[in-house]
Amino acid sequence: MKSVRLGLVGLGNMGRAHKANILAGKVKGLELTAICDLPAALEGVEEEDLAKFTDAGDMIASGKVDAIHIATPHPFHCAIGCQALEAGLHVMMEKPLAVHKAECEQLINAYHDKTKVFAAMFNQRTDPLYRKLKSLIDEGELGEIRRVQWNVTDWFRSQEYYASGGWRATWKGEGGGVLLNQCPHNLDLFQWMFGMPSEVHGFCNFGRYHQIEVEDDVSAYFRYANGCNALFVTSTGEAPGVNRLEVVGEQGLVTIEGGTIRFRRNRVPMSQFSDETFSSFGQPEVWEVDVPVTGEAGQHLEILRNFTNAILHDEKLISPAVEGIHSVELANAVLYSAWTNQTIQLPLDSSAYAAELQDRIDQSSFKKRQPRQQGGASADDFAKSF
Ligand SMILES: NC(=O)c1ccc[n+]([C@@H]2O[C@H](COP(=O)([O-])OP(=O)(O)OC[C@H]3O[C@@H](n4cnc5c(N)ncnc54)[C@H](O)[C@@H]3O)[C@@H](O)[C@H]2O)c1
Repeated sequence: MKSVRLGLVGLGNMGRAHKANILAGKVKGLELTAICDLPAALEGVEEEDLAKFTDAGDMIASGKVDAIHIATPHPFHCAIGCQALEAGLHVMMEKPLAVHKAECEQLINAYHDKTKVFAAMFNQRTDPLYRKLKSLIDEGELGEIRRVQWNVTDWFRSQEYYASGGWRATWKGEGGGVLLNQCPHNLDLFQWMFGMPSEVHGFCNFGRYHQIEVEDDVSAYFRYANGCNALFVTSTGEAPGVNRLEVVGEQGLVTIEGGTIRFRRNRVPMSQFSDETFSSFGQPEVWEVDVPVTGEAGQHLEILRNFTNAILHDEKLISPAVEGIHSVELANAVLYSAWTNQTIQLPLDSSAYAAELQDRIDQSSFKKRQPRQQGGASADDFAKSF
């Protein structure tokens, strides 16, 4: 195969951005041959050489695509993804992988043909700061991780944002709020760098800052099997927000904030120092380490190029879709804990969670505020949003 024929499903904010990039030739070896959306969304599409579908199943069966990229609202990810995987297509899935863990399990079960590539759009994995931190952790530079705190409240969204997309911020339309829409990126990075906790306790405020029924303000506690404590705080209502990640390891403290990484390294691991010192108030000697970080975050384009190269040249995937179940499980566990006011042991009971979410969908009578202006987000607004 010299190039990959791609079908794009969902031509909204994200889909249109991918379409423009691919048609501009920014992803070598990836050729957009087909698009799929609801009839109204296809009306203004100028490119006549693209095959157009209003049903993803028809596109999958058409023989016109080797791969599909699913950029619909999340409740459609599972059904369309399973269909494409069963049909033996390569699949790129937007984040989150699906609305809940049971759907992720269905997707993973449908991925029989491992010669096909199944990737997810976790573009923040291309950020050199997180790549560097992950490598420091994996190589043992920080020693055993003792505490993590990530305050990521710079996901501010206005009421107009929520009003402009009918599916947004409803239990039915996306199955959650900030945890399902904005934070899949951070939760994915969290599990990518620190692994999965053994228990989760979530405190959520639902519609605290916006007229919505889902969570827009979250504080979650993750406990790891080795006793490591982690706090994850997020919101779409705070301004100015903060994005500060603090990691305490035996070997020192790393912070990422404002686009920089700082490593204050203990000369001697902190517990060893505590055990061995004769001093009551002494502290380990600390070195300010200059951690070089090179390169740019390639973001969505890098993930798409990697997907294409994985298909054509067996390149290793940056974000395999099967890993997408973890961020969904974390999001679900935080919500489940908040709904039941219990600490949730992982692995999460996926069927129990699906039933609990379904109850909320069935019982919802929430009416969202209407948009103040028609037309939705501008391309500029959208580009700044992730
Ligand atoms: N990776 C990222 O940084 C990133 C950024 C934004 C959005 N996303 C994800 O992309 C997905 C779409 O988000 P968006 O902001 O583009 O939403 P959107 O509402 O702007 O667009 C969704 C599009 O999907 C179409 N659609 C709905 N149901 C469909 C179906 N059954 N078949 C075909 N088309 C269908 C809609 O008509 C619409 O054009 C979401 O899952 C979101 O989380 C990812």
